[in-house]
Amino acid sequence: MSSVVRFSRLLAPAMVRHRLMSNFRPEKALSLSSVSDDHSVWYDYSLNNSEQFWGDLAAERLRWRRPFDRVTDCDMERGIFRWFDGGQLNVCENVVDRHVTTDPDKVALIWEKDEPGEEERVTYKELKSMVCRLANVLKSQGVKKGDRVAIYMPVSPLAVCSMLACARIGAVHSVVFAGFSAEALRSRIDDAQASVLITADEGVRGGKTIPLKATVDKALEGTAAVNRVLVMTRTGNVVPWNTERDIRMEDAMALVSESCEAETMDSEDNLFLLYTSGSTGRPKGIAHTQAGYLLYASLTHELVFDYKPGDIFACVADIGWITGHSYVVYGPLSNGATTVLFESIPTYPDPGRYWEMVSRLKITHFYTAPTAVRLLIKAGDEHVHKYDRSSLRLLGCVGEPLNVEAWQWYNLVVGDARCPVVDTWWQTETGGIMIAPKPAPNGVKPKPGYPMIPFLGIDPVLVNEKGEIITENDVSGLLCVRKPWPGMARTIHGDHNRFLDTYFSRFPSLYFTGDGARRDRDGYYQITGRVDDVINVKGHRLGTAEVESAIDEHPDVAESAVVSFPHDIYGEGIYAYVILKDTGDLHSQTEITDSIKNIVKHRIGSFAVPEVILLTPALPKTRSGKIMRRVLRKVAANEADDLGDVSTLADPSVVDVIKKRHIETANNY
Ligand code: PRX
Repeated sequence: MSSVVRFSRLLAPAMVRHRLMSNFRPEKALSLSSVSDDHSVWYDYSLNNSEQFWGDLAAERLRWRRPFDRVTDCDMERGIFRWFDGGQLNVCENVVDRHVTTDPDKVALIWEKDEPGEEERVTYKELKSMVCRLANVLKSQGVKKGDRVAIYMPVSPLAVCSMLACARIGAVHSVVFAGFSAEALRSRIDDAQASVLITADEGVRGGKTIPLKATVDKALEGTAAVNRVLVMTRTGNVVPWNTERDIRMEDAMALVSESCEAETMDSEDNLFLLYTSGSTGRPKGIAHTQAGYLLYASLTHELVFDYKPGDIFACVADIGWITGHSYVVYGPLSNGATTVLFESIPTYPDPGRYWEMVSRLKITHFYTAPTAVRLLIKAGDEHVHKYDRSSLRLLGCVGEPLNVEAWQWYNLVVGDARCPVVDTWWQTETGGIMIAPKPAPNGVKPKPGYPMIPFLGIDPVLVNEKGEIITENDVSGLLCVRKPWPGMARTIHGDHNRFLDTYFSRFPSLYFTGDGARRDRDGYYQITGRVDDVINVKGHRLGTAEVESAIDEHPDVAESAVVSFPHDIYGEGIYAYVILKDTGDLHSQTEITDSIKNIVKHRIGSFAVPEVILLTPALPKTRSGKIMRRVLRKVAANEADDLGDVSTLADPSVVDVIKKRHIETANNY
């Protein structure tokens, strides 16, 4: 470590190229303005001298309690990734206390509540006091370093405090999106073995209340893991209460001290688990650790969004997803930013909500999902034009491909063609943004529909089905990453073999993303979509197997197969083919499809309910019994005229039946 910091010095941007050429390390200047001036020098340096690159940045950007001994120790074959070993720090201290020392009265959080105009602001000093109180409450309930705490909350300051209180005392948070059903919540609690759960009496979204506490009670009926439930008061309405288990969060916080010593954590201790869908029915608890994750979230937040002190940063994602973790909470707060917590929905009270908020809060950076952009295009430009958007400097997108039409609208109508549109590609597993149009070499024009350029230190490659790396441009392939980076996931909680199987076994020595991509003539990347059985609906990632296993629980269902189809607004819609048991016509088709939808809603959540359920007597299967999903996808996408080779099907006549039923069903949705 000492050799790393010895070279640490503030370099004036003009001197960077010279210093690089003479083997000086450019660490501090990176956070300044030189990346675009010398992009290729920086990028090459970040790949060819990755130990120095990441080591200097970690030494410089993070506040350490003990310096690290070693920058990195990774083994792709065994899926072992260690960064900044020997180092000790506390993430909460890095994202809160540091800024209390320098600028205590700066606003850290603006809580944009469901009702417009009711926003609340929390300064860094207030944030620290809230976090410490909550940390003391958790400690008083016996939560210790390494224990898991489940968080099932609406986007709110106390939700952020819950995450940071865990980080402060070394507990591992597992935030579960508050739109998940009781069963989905229970399975995540069980997998993580969370001993404490933090929730709210109710959520409020789009003028409606959501019964969070009641859902929690239902979830906990089936698990013994949780012994304490902390309940934030959001609406104050009467909710079911278990006096032996439930505690009102605000009351408990009032009784404890507002200071709490931050625990000393090793770089590779777990910071959080976040469950995401995979290609099997069982969600994966993706594990992220302390220093590497924080460094990566912090650096990408600053450089991809061109964040400057004083900016008002609005990432409107829910904290239940990785976007909320990295770009509502950890990235912005590590940079001392003011971050907006958006509790509402884009169409409440009307489709001008985002832009009215931009004008009222003077938002400089706005980061959302393509599905929201497409929804707002439909609502009409007048909702945008009504509001002053002159504070905006940059528009970002994540979660699914941002199609060219949506890109143009975002750029011209929302940004008046003066704000860069930054389409960022990344995943729960990558911890932070991997491919984005920024930072970019000077003069590079954004390319609609393309995330474009790998971030510093990121080495994407395209491989063919045989696993051979494709070196030329103007090609498509499977997207992999060749070099480890500090923000990457470390394991799947409790199942390292699954981690290896999913990401590292198909192509040895490469991280396999599960996405297909194109690299154009200029070397820019465009994401073509998932190549596994995972679909992206409204920016939410769902395993088709997860939906199938919910549908299969229906007593009348014999078998199901779920695929995606192109959807104007959601990006992808969910299409379920269902074979019913031979139990006679006891129920009408509508009754059955409605009850199937209900089961999915209860097992997973409303966002996973299929748009289309097609009842069919059979599925197209090969002679070995494998469902030919390609055929199902083509039919669902209205492309059944071009089914390709179906000669290996055991019974090709099934295809005609499905095509016919699809046309009948399509008339009804
Ligand atoms: O398929 C890619 C898609 O979202 C997947 C990751 O989903 P999740 O882990 O839920 O994280 C979403 C937010 C980071 C990817 O494998 N995806 C993400 N960003 C883009 C994208 N597809 C196209 N373009 C993007 N910019």
